[in-house]
Amino acid sequence: MPVLRLIRERFAKERPLDGVRVAACLHVTAETACLARTLVAGGAEVGLCSANPLSTQDDVAAALATNDHVDVHALHGEDIDSYVAHVNALVDSGPQITLDDGADLLTAIHARSGAGADGASNGGDLAEKLIGGTEETTTGLLRLRRLEAESGLRCPVLAVNEALAERTLNDRYGTGQSALDGILRAANLLLAGHTLVLLGYGFAGRGIAQRARGAGAAVIVCEVDPLRALEARMEGYEVMPALDAAGRGDLFVTVTGSRSVLRREHFERMKDNAVLANAGHFDVEIDLDDLRALATGGVQPVLPLIDQYDLGDRRLNLLASGRVVNLAAGEGHPAAVMDVSFALQALAAEHLVLNAGSLEPRVLDVPRAIDDEVSRLKLAALDVQIDTLTEDQRDYLQGWRQSF
Ligand SMILES: NC(=O)c1ccc[n+]([C@@H]2O[C@H](COP(=O)([O-])OP(=O)(O)OC[C@H]3O[C@@H](n4cnc5c(N)ncnc54)[C@H](O)[C@@H]3O)[C@@H](O)[C@H]2O)c1
Repeated sequence: MPVLRLIRERFAKERPLDGVRVAACLHVTAETACLARTLVAGGAEVGLCSANPLSTQDDVAAALATNDHVDVHALHGEDIDSYVAHVNALVDSGPQITLDDGADLLTAIHARSGAGADGASNGGDLAEKLIGGTEETTTGLLRLRRLEAESGLRCPVLAVNEALAERTLNDRYGTGQSALDGILRAANLLLAGHTLVLLGYGFAGRGIAQRARGAGAAVIVCEVDPLRALEARMEGYEVMPALDAAGRGDLFVTVTGSRSVLRREHFERMKDNAVLANAGHFDVEIDLDDLRALATGGVQPVLPLIDQYDLGDRRLNLLASGRVVNLAAGEGHPAAVMDVSFALQALAAEHLVLNAGSLEPRVLDVPRAIDDEVSRLKLAALDVQIDTLTEDQRDYLQGWRQSF
């Protein structure tokens, strides 16, 4: 992760996070460990819990706790009670900066602070300690914007998920490749000659569609947003309602951030042996209650990450229990992608500390200068040089008098 390494080297000299308590609720993977080490190099006291029980790498958690003085609360496969206890352990530490992937940590602090206002919590108002937070994913930003709309957001949050470098690298190329990788590892499918129905043609969905088409699949896109649907059509994909696509697909991939995108009415039309996978953040996009209710013949594990639902006349194969497939069935984004995401996280944390007290308690864009800096470092890591504007060109672009 050369971009993060360059930032870590600067942080070690400048110590921009000296003494700052940073709590991160992220996937506990080797890549996250590099981010944690970068924050520690910058002087931060770092706590870490997992944003997804299935993605925790226990050896990484142990190494961080043992070697890097990171306060780790995460265990692979932990149940929901342990998950909540681990998030709460970080809440109790009174963080000043939060780094989230799904907003569980920051919303827990807000929920606890609300209780505190009624005198029912641990005494201090945790939200008052907050300098700010960052958010790594679409779903987390949706939650935080709803909190903001209710005038409940108590600190600035930088929308790392919407940084231009993140959108380009992480969502399109990272998710595009790694979601298909997870599906192929779990199901060992041949994409060529098969039809993939993609539900949600957003930043992540576009990457999946592009990669699947490249591997020979026929791709059908289902959308609710007219502009996104139009874009998919102009790209050459078939576009239709999910109910029409239900009988056509061999493989269905949801990546909308919404829930029950595939449900009873769709399952009832699907072909025998169709495969269902979810690349959205939460395991709510494929309606598991509906699927279970239809499985009159029972549910059988047929491969380590595949449960087969017997609908009597047809079988449907669910990958990774409907959890985010690139993490639950694969290894998530390659390190080269997370290098960019976590470089943005590190610089966003630094920006929040440098501007403590002067940013509004809203969901904010990552400053363009951070996007540019991360892109510049990534290009350097790839040994790619680019042109710069001449003085004459800069004058031309900044002025308004010359039109020819
Ligand atoms: N697996 C990963 O690595 C990964 C990476 C990035 C994002 N995500 C997750 O994927 C989800 C989508 O993220 P995004 O950044 O692409 O969001 P996005 O908002 O850019 O795209 C989501 C798209 O889904 C569409 N949509 C919503 N409801 C729909 C429905 N019922 N049927 C069809 N389309 C529908 C929306 O119109 C939108 O175009 C989120 O949960 C996000 O957290 C996962």
